[in-house]
Amino acid sequence: MINPIKVFETPNDLAKIGIAGIMSPKPTATRKEIEVKTATSLGRPLKGEFNLILNQAFPEVRIWQQRGKITTIGQVKAVIAENLIKTYDKGKIRALDGLSLDVEEGTVLGVLGPNGAGKTTTVRILATLLTPDSGRASVAGIDVIKNPGKVREVIGLSGQYAAVDETLTGWDNLTMFSRLYHLSPAASKKRADELLEQFSLTDAAKRPIKTYSGGMRRRLDLAASLIVKPKILFLDEPTTGLDPRGRIEMWEVIQGLVKDGTTLLLTTQYLEEADQLADEIAVIDHGKVIARGTSDQLKKEVGGERLEIVAEAKDLKQVAEIVGKVSGGKVLVEEGSRQVSAPVTTGSRALIEAVRSLDDLGIHPLDIALKRPSLDDVFIALTGHVAEENKPEEGEVKSRRGRRK
Ligand SMILES: Nc1ncnc2c1ncn2[C@@H]1O[C@H](COP(=O)(O)OP(=O)(O)OP(=O)(O)O)[C@@H](O)[C@H]1O
Ligand SMILES: [Mg+2]
Repeated sequence: MINPIKVFETPNDLAKIGIAGIMSPKPTATRKEIEVKTATSLGRPLKGEFNLILNQAFPEVRIWQQRGKITTIGQVKAVIAENLIKTYDKGKIRALDGLSLDVEEGTVLGVLGPNGAGKTTTVRILATLLTPDSGRASVAGIDVIKNPGKVREVIGLSGQYAAVDETLTGWDNLTMFSRLYHLSPAASKKRADELLEQFSLTDAAKRPIKTYSGGMRRRLDLAASLIVKPKILFLDEPTTGLDPRGRIEMWEVIQGLVKDGTTLLLTTQYLEEADQLADEIAVIDHGKVIARGTSDQLKKEVGGERLEIVAEAKDLKQVAEIVGKVSGGKVLVEEGSRQVSAPVTTGSRALIEAVRSLDDLGIHPLDIALKRPSLDDVFIALTGHVAEENKPEEGEVKSRRGRRK
């Protein structure tokens, strides 16, 4: 991993430090092609004597020679969003409130947030389907506001709501999308067959989408977003509504794409999904990134172990008092699951102390445990509520979120 010390903007800058050359491979160039081209421009073979960052998503690969060592440098962020603001209803709804994030090339960023946090709005802006009120965003180094057409050439998008035509078959949908991407009729048919095979949909290829299961629809929708093998892929809640098996199948498909080098920005309400798929997680709430890091970093930030006690509803108040005394930290009471929890620093001593106090009062908990923090805890600590909520009615969303302000 190379950390560029400085990014050189012009050929002259590069020349000053002995640049070997600048090249602009086609956006569709493979790693091998770029290596060959780089070797040719250097006039010697590439033999692991230098590090090469292949920014395939970027139009330029910059090469820099220093003390006999040759390194390529360049922008390693595939997606950058800076201070995005987006309002609806004449400013009454602030969907994005200064959202900033970035995605390193070849990595997966999981954007995690509850209903209404601004996930879809963010994805739609980055995919050029929506213009922000203010702020800046670039994808593959291309400005999404100034150059939406160019951005669309390098991205794939699978939206929260399937974009496929219900009455057409899977095969028809994929050939139609391929034609929209200007593939020839023959190439369209070939690509449709390939994708159906890759997504285990060959058997259902000639059936109308309306006969597909939820999981099959999502897979077809994802397939449609991959027609031109995008370098950067946006997936908005790719597994919402899928059963556990469908979710795991989808994860495997997504992991395959990532292995092939696709940069991915994925939104989700499922902490487990972010944990499984994402290199880095950005937690968003109320249109802002409120925390980011790897799953482990976020867990560490929230602190060490937690004491968790599940008790009868009638005992919750007393249990909360005991947990509060033992912990000294913020106690969380979840009435629904009758669980009381709080961070502790004294490990099993805290557990024993709590058991003694409960016993003194004649309270018998249904469950008591010391837990290492999960992403759920991270989410609760950051936002004050659980992540995986049932989708409430529209009116309810407003009042719930209104109250929290
Ligand atoms: N077209 C619109 N008109 C008015 N308000 C909108 C519109 N689109 C989104 N909003 C509001 O903007 C906020 C952010 O919405 P967004 O769809 O980005 O959230 P989300 O994180 O994708 O939520 P979900 O998990 O439910 O998909 C919400 O309060 C939503 O009600
Ligand atoms: Mg959404």
